[in-house]
Amino acid sequence: MRTVDLAPPGSLRRAVELFRAFRVEQTDPDRFYGLLAADSARHVGLHADLEKAVVLDVGGGPGYFADAFAAQGARYLAIDADLGELTARDDPGPNTLLGSGTDLPIRSGSVDVCYSSNVLEHVERPERMAEEMVRVTRPGGIVFLSYTLWYGPWGGHETAPWHFLGGHYAARRYRRRNGKRPKNLFGESLFPITAGRMIRWAKTCADAEVVAIQPRYHPSWARFVVRIPGLRELAVWNLVLVLRRR
Ligand SMILES: C[S@@+](CC[C@H](N)C(=O)[O-])C[C@H]1O[C@@H](n2cnc3c(N)ncnc32)[C@H](O)[C@@H]1O
Repeated sequence: MRTVDLAPPGSLRRAVELFRAFRVEQTDPDRFYGLLAADSARHVGLHADLEKAVVLDVGGGPGYFADAFAAQGARYLAIDADLGELTARDDPGPNTLLGSGTDLPIRSGSVDVCYSSNVLEHVERPERMAEEMVRVTRPGGIVFLSYTLWYGPWGGHETAPWHFLGGHYAARRYRRRNGKRPKNLFGESLFPITAGRMIRWAKTCADAEVVAIQPRYHPSWARFVVRIPGLRELAVWNLVLVLRRR
């Protein structure tokens, strides 16, 4: 198992290292996703004891997060809606399911941690997926939801920054320039989700209490931006919601 050196949580160095790795996401995905996965497992570990914890990763993709959670002592399960994503690097690991986050084939209250990274913006009904994540988590367990904000610099994914002129326009422009449609197609596999929408959902969720609302990548001194409606949509980039199941 490869170990990844991480800068201290909340430090500026961590933010810079994540950003540098993000810039080579396309050319060196192992570097970016290896770092992101290790950082994420550590982040979740700040809110939940991962030793022997059952962690369900909703929209786990090609498996970068399995090693990182296992390194923290967790028992990792993943579910993804796309077989191509699950098999993109290798055969899917054990405890991997094909299915949708909006209709989890998992018994209620059966996992210690329900985790999702960069999936909610690909789902047409994000509240439904978040509710499913709460449902499958045991009382006292943690739901960790992180997603990319539409009005952030990377909201349009590979069509950014043209999404600021509209998602359909950005997709058409991408197609013209690249001769193919974007993988993340606006209105089909990419949706304009805001911070305000899911913060409202979290604060009114009857079955879970809010533990933390944070920008995922910012150093700790810059986290205040999440408290400023409007500004947070532009400046947060990726929002983390941590909830505890009642
Ligand atoms: C951008 S990737 C994120 C992968 C990984 N979680 C990460 O943070 O790197 C989005 C993943 O969400 C999956 N996905 C999209 N819609 C889904 C759904 N309704 N249920 C489960 N997975 C879904 C996609 O197949 C893809 O693997």
